[in-house]
Amino acid sequence: MDVSGRRWLVTGARGMLGRDVVAALAAAGVPEDDVTAFGRADLDVTDLGAVAAAVAGHDVVVNCAAWTAVDDAETQEAAAFAVNALGAANLARACAAAGARLVHVSTDYVFSGLDQDTAYREDDPVGPRSAYGRTKAAGEWAVRALLPGRSWILRTAWLYGEHGPNFVRTMARLEAQRAVLDVVDDQTGQPTWSLDVAGRIVDVVRRDVPPGTYHATSSGRTTWYGLARAVFALLGADPDRVRPTTSAAQSRPAPRPAWSVLGHDAWGAAGLRPLRPWDEALREATAGTSLLGAGSVRRSVSG
Ligand SMILES: NC(=O)c1ccc[n+]([C@@H]2O[C@H](COP(=O)([O-])OP(=O)(O)OC[C@H]3O[C@@H](n4cnc5c(N)ncnc54)[C@H](OP(=O)(O)O)[C@@H]3O)[C@@H](O)[C@H]2O)c1
Repeated sequence: MDVSGRRWLVTGARGMLGRDVVAALAAAGVPEDDVTAFGRADLDVTDLGAVAAAVAGHDVVVNCAAWTAVDDAETQEAAAFAVNALGAANLARACAAAGARLVHVSTDYVFSGLDQDTAYREDDPVGPRSAYGRTKAAGEWAVRALLPGRSWILRTAWLYGEHGPNFVRTMARLEAQRAVLDVVDDQTGQPTWSLDVAGRIVDVVRRDVPPGTYHATSSGRTTWYGLARAVFALLGADPDRVRPTTSAAQSRPAPRPAWSVLGHDAWGAAGLRPLRPWDEALREATAGTSLLGAGSVRRSVSG
């Protein structure tokens, strides 16, 4: 399907991924006039009437709106559910009425992240252990139930990008502030650049891949400790200043999945390759953006 000549609506368009989706559409040649980029102030996805009015007249909706405060969701699950589940349902219902397609973004947190040492398949049963994961799993279910045949669910994980707070940016900041850093080494996942996911969202529509569930995460895997070391290395800093620690030593309100490795078989069946390896993406992301902060420029200039 030609991505130009279609009317696109991006929700959550001021968020980290939303902003990259808008950029990816521009890079794909979609004219600005054909893209409605709505942040939360323009469209609250929990408001069904507003969602129906906003979706009307669009061909493709990309839902990047979400409650992403994972720890806060533990004590405010109803509010998170309103955005992540009811918001997704509202969009699916509105797309059904408008004849539009929906790309809905989901997460590794729908899986338990326990007792696993092989990649999760797209059709593995979900089993969220956190409130955030439960609300996102409910959102997936709503999209599948309300818009069968015209929806794509793209699960991503461990996102970093230029337009939001994220682990890579935090590590770059802490490198400048701390002599050593303790980072958890018992959670394994796939660090993923939000611009790669945004590009894949455009490709899914362009290539008209079969509706269904896909895993938009980088290839390969590492731990947060491994990712922190990679960031230090890219900054020209000694990676041994990063020390491994355990999740138990850094307890958080919401349980984190120990195993967040998502399999990519569905891409092959759809004629697309999985996203590139995480370390390759990280190199490109940090070279072309402000992700590593001013310190990276200073060091590379001074050698
Ligand atoms: N970041 C990750 O590591 C990660 C991992 C896996 C999956 N994901 C998924 O990726 C998607 C994009 O996340 P992100 O990282 O880009 O998060 P983000 O930067 O927090 O963006 C989410 C956006 O949604 C907006 N929003 C919140 N409530 C809304 C509402 N009721 N109506 C409309 N917009 C609302 C937020 O606005 P405010 O800031 O004003 O609240 C924010 O701009 C989400 O579906 C998320 O679950 C993210």
